[in-house]
Amino acid sequence: MNKVCVIGVGPGDDAFIAPAARQKVAECDLILGSERLTRLFDKPSQPLQLRGNPPHSIQFILANRDRARIGVLVSGDPGLYSFMGTLSRFLGRDDYEVVPGISAVQLAFARAKETWENALILSLHGRARGDLDDVVKRHAKLAVLTDDRWSPAALARYLLERGLEDREFIVCQDLSYPGERIWRGDVRSAAAEVFGEGALSVVLVIDRKRCKGSFTA
Ligand SMILES: C[S@@+](CC[C@H](N)C(=O)[O-])C[C@H]1O[C@@H](n2cnc3c(N)ncnc32)[C@H](O)[C@@H]1O
Repeated sequence: MNKVCVIGVGPGDDAFIAPAARQKVAECDLILGSERLTRLFDKPSQPLQLRGNPPHSIQFILANRDRARIGVLVSGDPGLYSFMGTLSRFLGRDDYEVVPGISAVQLAFARAKETWENALILSLHGRARGDLDDVVKRHAKLAVLTDDRWSPAALARYLLERGLEDREFIVCQDLSYPGERIWRGDVRSAAAEVFGEGALSVVLVIDRKRCKGSFTA
C-alpha cells in the first residue's frame, strides 16, 4: 500500500517551498490541494474537498491510495491547523508520511523580527469569544491565525472592549505574496484600521512589559 504524503508547501510563494517538498510532489502520481497551492506545481491535481463525514477527500484517499501515490498539499507546516489532523483520524501512523514546511507563523515572526520560543499559537477559526481574553492575559506573546469572521480588526476591537489595549499588535498579511503587508501599531489603532477583505493574516499580540526586546521574559 502506498503511503499518503502530507506535504507542507509554505506560506504561498514558491521561494518558500523546501526542496524536499518539491521532490515529494514530483514522486506523487496525484496531488490534492486548494487551488492556491496546487497552482504552484505542474502536476495533475484535484481540489481538497472538506465536505461530508468523513470528508470527500478522505473517502477518495482511502479508495485510491493502493492505486496511486497521493500527495496532499497543505499551506505552511502540516503540524499546525492543517488537513493532517483530520487525515490522521482515518489512517494509521504508518499509512502516511509528512514533509514539513515553513509556517505562516514562522514567517510572521521573522518579518516582525521577534523570537517565538514562548509564544502561544492560536487559531480563531470557528472559535467562540468565550475565554479568549483570559488566554491573551496569560501569554506575553501570541500568534493568532485569523479568518474572515474573526478579522484582525475584529480581534483588536475585542481586545479593546476587554481592556487589553496595552498590547502591541502586528498584522502580517498575505505573507510571501507580492501584496504582503506588515502593519505594526497598538490595539486602538488596529481596531480602526482597514485590513483588506479576504487577506490571509497572522496577528502577533505582544505584551511588551513582559518581553525584553524581542525576548519573552
Ligand atoms: C488552516 S490555517 C493553516 C496554517 C498553516 N498550516 C501554517 O503552518 O501556516 C490557515 C491560516 O493560516 C494563515 N496563513 C496561511 N497562509 C498565510 C499567508 N501567506 N499569510 C498570512 N497568513 C497566512 C491564515 O491565518 C489562515 O487563515
